[in-house]
Amino acid sequence: MDTSTFPTLTTERLTLRQLSIEDQEGVFALRSDPEINKYIERNPSKTIEDAINFINLINDNSKKGNTLYWAVTLTSTKTFVGAVCLLNISEEKSSCEIGYELITKFQGQGIMKEAVEKVIDYVFQKVKLKNLNAIVHYKNQSSLKLLAKFNFIRSPETYKENPDFNIFTLTY
Ligand SMILES: CC(C)(COP(=O)(O)OP(=O)(O)OC[C@H]1O[C@@H](n2cnc3c(N)ncnc32)[C@H](O)[C@@H]1OP(=O)(O)O)[C@@H](O)C(=O)NCCC(=O)NCCS
Repeated sequence: MDTSTFPTLTTERLTLRQLSIEDQEGVFALRSDPEINKYIERNPSKTIEDAINFINLINDNSKKGNTLYWAVTLTSTKTFVGAVCLLNISEEKSSCEIGYELITKFQGQGIMKEAVEKVIDYVFQKVKLKNLNAIVHYKNQSSLKLLAKFNFIRSPETYKENPDFNIFTLTY
């Protein structure tokens, strides 16, 4: 996938833009929060350096063309509120995987629904992939609720790495 120009997306309230080193505090807030990490398998950020390393890793991976990571910001105040990412973007398989997270105080306002709606549109209309997958812990109610709003369907296929997670797919 051509990632030479970053696809900034906008919605009524939000600007989804490329992650920058200036987002380190926001990224740290996301990745160090035990509530946000509860149903995500990853190494939590313990220090601001961990967050900086993560940002550098993301920007390196983006150049390879199989990852896209948007910083979700409020357009009116430029506040960093969360992130949406696309992983394992494969034109060959015509699929990719979506991930998303919001800083706790910005949850419950429909922000992620607004962001994900735009990213879904981008995946199907611009990149023209056929399948969008999400891998979700069976207890992650807020994530399951979000996917249900877009009619993601639970796949009969099990997630081999961890049976507590299910694969959901939206097909265009
Ligand atoms: C998953 C996650 C992003 C969902 O965040 P969220 O704020 O609940 O999601 P939405 O943006 O869809 O907001 C929905 C809520 O906002 C409310 N809301 C308020 N104003 C709204 C508006 N204008 N439009 C839509 N919904 C609105 C809805 O009623 C809904 O609340 P409810 O769930 O109590 O019914 C968040 O829980 C999170 O970051 N979790 C931790 C990370 C994580 O697990 N990520 C997923 C890994 S698979």
